[in-house]
Amino acid sequence: MKAPVSQRWCLIFSLFLMAEFAIGELFFEPFNVTYDHRSLLIANRRRMLISAGVHYPRATPKMWPDLIAKAKEGGADVIETYTFWNGHEPIRGEYNFEGRYDLVKFVKLVGSSGLYLFLRIGPYVCAEWNFGGFPVWLRDIPGIEFRTDNPPFKEEMRRFVTKIVNLMREERLFSWQGGPIILLQIENEYGDVENSYGKKGRDYINWAANMAVGLGAGVPWVMCKQSDAPEFIINTCNGYYCDGFKPNSNKKPIFWTEDWDGWYTTWGGRLPHRPVEDLAFAVARFFERGGSLQNYYMYFGGTNFGRTAGGPFYITSYDYDAPIGEYGLLSQPKWGHLKDLHAAIKLCEPALVAVDSPHYIKLGPMQEAHMYRKSGYGKWSRSSESGDESRCSAFLANIDQHKVASVHFQGHIYTLPPWSVSILPDCRNVAYNTAKVGAQTSIKELEFDAPLLSNASALQNVLHQDGASYISEHWVTVDEPVGLWSDHNFTVPGILEHLNVTKDFSDYLWYFTRIYISGEDISFWKKNGTHPALTIDSMRDVVHIFVNQQLEGRGVGRWVKVVQPVELQEGFNDVALLSLTVGLQNYGAFLEKDGGGFRGQVKLTGLKNGDMDLSKLSWTYQVGLKGEMQEIYTLDGNDKAAWVDLTIDGIKSPLSWYKTYFDAPDGLDPVALDLRSMAKGQAWVNGHHIGRYWTLPSSQGGCQRSCDYRGKYDSSKCTTNCGKPTQVRYDVCSSIG
Ligand SMILES: *[C@@H]1O[C@H](CO)[C@@H](O)[C@H](O)[C@H]1NC(C)=O
Ligand SMILES: *[C@@H]1O[C@H](CO)[C@@H](O)[C@H](O)[C@H]1NC(C)=O
Ligand SMILES: *[C@@H]1O[C@H](CO)[C@@H](O)[C@H](O)[C@H]1NC(C)=O
Ligand SMILES: *[C@@H]1O[C@H](CO)[C@@H](O)[C@H](O)[C@H]1NC(C)=O
Ligand SMILES: *[C@@H]1O[C@H](CO)[C@@H](O)[C@H](O)[C@H]1NC(C)=O
Repeated sequence: MKAPVSQRWCLIFSLFLMAEFAIGELFFEPFNVTYDHRSLLIANRRRMLISAGVHYPRATPKMWPDLIAKAKEGGADVIETYTFWNGHEPIRGEYNFEGRYDLVKFVKLVGSSGLYLFLRIGPYVCAEWNFGGFPVWLRDIPGIEFRTDNPPFKEEMRRFVTKIVNLMREERLFSWQGGPIILLQIENEYGDVENSYGKKGRDYINWAANMAVGLGAGVPWVMCKQSDAPEFIINTCNGYYCDGFKPNSNKKPIFWTEDWDGWYTTWGGRLPHRPVEDLAFAVARFFERGGSLQNYYMYFGGTNFGRTAGGPFYITSYDYDAPIGEYGLLSQPKWGHLKDLHAAIKLCEPALVAVDSPHYIKLGPMQEAHMYRKSGYGKWSRSSESGDESRCSAFLANIDQHKVASVHFQGHIYTLPPWSVSILPDCRNVAYNTAKVGAQTSIKELEFDAPLLSNASALQNVLHQDGASYISEHWVTVDEPVGLWSDHNFTVPGILEHLNVTKDFSDYLWYFTRIYISGEDISFWKKNGTHPALTIDSMRDVVHIFVNQQLEGRGVGRWVKVVQPVELQEGFNDVALLSLTVGLQNYGAFLEKDGGGFRGQVKLTGLKNGDMDLSKLSWTYQVGLKGEMQEIYTLDGNDKAAWVDLTIDGIKSPLSWYKTYFDAPDGLDPVALDLRSMAKGQAWVNGHHIGRYWTLPSSQGGCQRSCDYRGKYDSSKCTTNCGKPTQVRYDVCSSIG
């Protein structure tokens, strides 16, 4: 826990778009959205749609207009987002639609920029978001079981989904009201867990579908990864490739709700990168083979501010290797190459919408063409387009991942690089090839003037490195007490489940007990040459083990066994276990049963008369850290702590707060804190919770010397950062905005 409090105020992102529209004004002429087997019908016209995933709470309202503008410039027609139930209803019945959670403002900004919005309500969203978006209070509803045919769960889910749909309708944000919302999603990837719930799972999905459609939102609903979705819901594909996907009815169009253009990572993980040539190949193949709506997950990933990262162990950055990087800057050549791709697909749109399905032509053993040609004006043509030539578009694909191919198509010869698609908007001239990156090719490394924070011994050495530090030399510190720190503690027999006590209002929970060690035990160890150990059968995510105020060791993992040798003295010994969650589980069946802390026995092994089962003892519980609960990281709360000057030779407690002031750097560039000299904790600037930090390095192996775009991508391909801390830079200004 380090608490740099600064005097800085960032004004990085301009906000100019919003004032053009007053509340109640129309963003569009009202239009209906329906669909046929080929595509969505926007005002009765088929469309090929490019959608850009941007999660509003992973950015700040100040960043939103710029992100939306960059998505539009990049060729997006649609902005996609989940909703985040635990952000919107942190306490049951108390709603929050402010600040980063101002969904209405976000949707209006999308509308005012002329883009459509695809709202994935969930409300289970996974999303590498804390608890998959579920509020932790949901666990405490008697008899509840999540995401199954369970009346208490269904009632809560219905209430939240209704709340969102009604809010959107009241704000006139659906297309038929002149708003930007054209598409909605209920549930999320339930097909992955449905079998775990048996018949109740199928009943639940039918209930969810009927409940959603019954809300009268007036636009189509989708379910992703739901091959048994009912007839009135479009089932869609999520994945790295979706060009072979077929919905479960020939009346439904082919949608790709999550095109994974990168991946997320954990503390101690490598950084994933998806090559843009392969990504463009996947998108081109999708439209080539009849797809009509494709959404980048993510187009902008952003930041898991505060404690919103899911888990276990997801890092604070949610950069995702997206076309727009965490700090809102274009990630090249990804953004540019996709922009060119979208322009090429747009040139094909009149032909793509004019036919019901493409004409397939085999060009070679691993080469194929799909041609979209319709003579005369089709039912779906735009009346403004002229001439039959513009009604023919073709895609030529070389799926061979090793060899260049020369193919004959319509009397001409085309050369296709391996693992690539050429797009011919007029069936003749190549407008784009997915493997030829025409956009800016060099990857622009972000140059940060990084303010450096440091541990005590390194402080003076690093502060002025590069002459780029904005952190003052003067630091103050205060120790966090080990163990109980207030009379908001309570004592009960046995080990309580972590989340049942913290309700996730903090990562931290103290378990405190006192044990008696006899002289016989001590002499037994001395004679035997053995050591007593504190053993926890199973625990997650992190435990710090203290005996008599001394840190004995730590355990890290998801439901792992911990055996920690400990130093004990004759007589009474204080045992204090600091249990931490590092992002609640966000994926899998039975989330409500997962919880945190300890399972099985907590025992002391190696005693003269066998093991001592500490689980049976009385334990005293204390939620959170003192400095955290007193909010000493805020300007108001900061006086509550007895800060002292940090000296280099001072003996530091394992749990400490640090504070300093720094001047805001000039200019409008992003600013990051470089926390590579720290270990693990949380950081605040100006009282804003930046997030968790951790310098856990990834393993040495697994990184490739070079990245070959050819062939199927998975998240272990093209990773970087081996042997280094997963994240060292933390976005400061966005978190303030
Ligand atoms: C949308 O459809 C509804 C119901 O079919 C109809 O009443 C309404 O006029 C349509 N709106 C537009 C803008 O076409
Ligand atoms: C957590 O509390 C609930 C009651 O709110 C109880 O049903 C459940 O058994 C508890 N979980 C554990 C692991 O103690
Ligand atoms: C403090 O930082 C120095 C230099 O970065 C490093 O060598 C040392 O191991 C660090 N100490 C701790 C306790 O992290
Ligand atoms: C723990 O709570 C008890 C009862 O409220 C109180 O007497 C005791 O002082 C508390 N412990 C600390 C360290 O504040
Ligand atoms: C140490 O203790 C163990 C378990 O009680 C016993 O089996 C072993 O013989 C002892 N070893 C010595 C050297 O006393």
